[in-house]
Amino acid sequence: MRGNQKTIHTTCIIVLLSTLTLYLLITLVPVNLLEISPTPWSCWSLTLTDHNNVKKNTESGERCDMFHGKWVQYPNGPYYTNESCNVIFDQQNCMKFGRPDREFLKWRWKPDNHCELPIFDAVGFLELVRGKSMAFVGDSVARNQAQSLLCLLATVVYPLDASETKDPRFRHWLYKDHNFTLATFWSPYLVKAINTYPTGPTYDRLVNLYLDQPNEDWANEIESFDYVILSASQWFFGPQIYYENHHVIGCYNCHVNNLTSLNKFYGYRKAFRTAFQALWNSQNFKGVTFLRTLSPAHFENGEWNRGGRCSRTRPATGREMRLEGDSLKFYLIQVDEMKRAVEQGARRGLKFRLLDTTEAMVLRPDGHPNHFGHWPHENVTIADCVHWCLPGPIDTWNEFLFQMLKMEMLSN
Ligand SMILES: *[C@@H]1O[C@H](CO)[C@@H](O)[C@H](O)[C@H]1NC(C)=O
Ligand SMILES: *[C@@H]1O[C@H](CO)[C@@H](O)[C@H](O)[C@H]1NC(C)=O
Ligand SMILES: *[C@@H]1O[C@H](CO)[C@@H](O)[C@H](O)[C@H]1NC(C)=O
Ligand SMILES: *[C@@H]1O[C@H](CO)[C@@H](O)[C@H](O)[C@H]1NC(C)=O
Repeated sequence: MRGNQKTIHTTCIIVLLSTLTLYLLITLVPVNLLEISPTPWSCWSLTLTDHNNVKKNTESGERCDMFHGKWVQYPNGPYYTNESCNVIFDQQNCMKFGRPDREFLKWRWKPDNHCELPIFDAVGFLELVRGKSMAFVGDSVARNQAQSLLCLLATVVYPLDASETKDPRFRHWLYKDHNFTLATFWSPYLVKAINTYPTGPTYDRLVNLYLDQPNEDWANEIESFDYVILSASQWFFGPQIYYENHHVIGCYNCHVNNLTSLNKFYGYRKAFRTAFQALWNSQNFKGVTFLRTLSPAHFENGEWNRGGRCSRTRPATGREMRLEGDSLKFYLIQVDEMKRAVEQGARRGLKFRLLDTTEAMVLRPDGHPNHFGHWPHENVTIADCVHWCLPGPIDTWNEFLFQMLKMEMLSN
């Protein structure tokens, strides 16, 4: 069983890494903009009673939490297509590579208890973030969300690419008319990470993780950002050697005899703690930090490297699928570390929030590229059940984000 877990997750790393390689080959082509003007379907009164909340009052005065609910049919979806958005990364461009079904695009998240999640309003979003800056920090799933946001906003306008490098892992876009900056920082571990065998096989690569040092690639640049969206998951399933205070303290699954064996949950918890600490230690940082919770993978009928795939075409119900095992533990660590961050942050007047996408995504085994992240003739046998098709259910993450930003604005 432990062996299974390991292979499943090292797989994900392969997918993530190959994604990155292929991304380097992409060039962007200009495509006509498609005008879509969604109408918000309700306006609610928002109350801010809980400091880490996403609670709001419905018209009936009931409290609700938009992260709990179910998927309901929505024939008007999706917001954009692979033709109307020209920044979709090939590996997530499921339409381009012949995904035959469309039903997975026809669902919306319906929060419980008379709550509604309003339709994404790109014009409203850009107004809300006027003069602000937003950073996505994490792995290729973080980038997946950033690209979803670019596509949602592309119904109004494309940004200028203001990146300082050609490195696709570090992008910087400017929405000039709104003076809004959107950036991505590649940091799959959030903390300083050094590959011990850079030329070795990607799936069993041992990394040295410096659990008490944030990765400087993002930490040195983050001070000026108004909104920071942190995330991390799949990479923590691979073998790791842990360092604290510049010394080895142990390892997870490293097969080095004289090292203390620690579990991956130890490293995962510390990585979030260190990332949060970096933010509240950063003197000029005044932004709001969001932790986007664990994004579940959905390999079925086999492990990732034994024909496992995700070929469903409809959402699942809560009875069919739920978070369990290591993924559940990772999620609970995120919730736990967020509580801690909220308390510590409050002492410095900093806000930390949970962008709690996990429950909704557990129910979307139909939302991954599966084998439609590349041309059929390409010799890729591994299905991608980690990333999310664009358009697709990941667009909901930005609907949640928009609501959370509205609540932040109302609280100021
Ligand atoms: C979009 O998807 C269609 C299939 O639905 C495909 O024919 C077309 O080439 C794709 N276009 C782009 C730009 O990806
Ligand atoms: C754009 O926003 C930044 C803050 O993100 C601010 O410092 C700058 O003055 C703004 N520029 C204009 C032209 O409004
Ligand atoms: C483990 O052994 C290696 C080689 O024998 C040595 O270089 C290293 O310092 C040892 N590490 C610890 C933590 O004792
Ligand atoms: C695909 O790759 C596998 C493993 O690398 C190889 O055995 C097989 O011959 C390849 N198939 C084609 C059609 O290139």
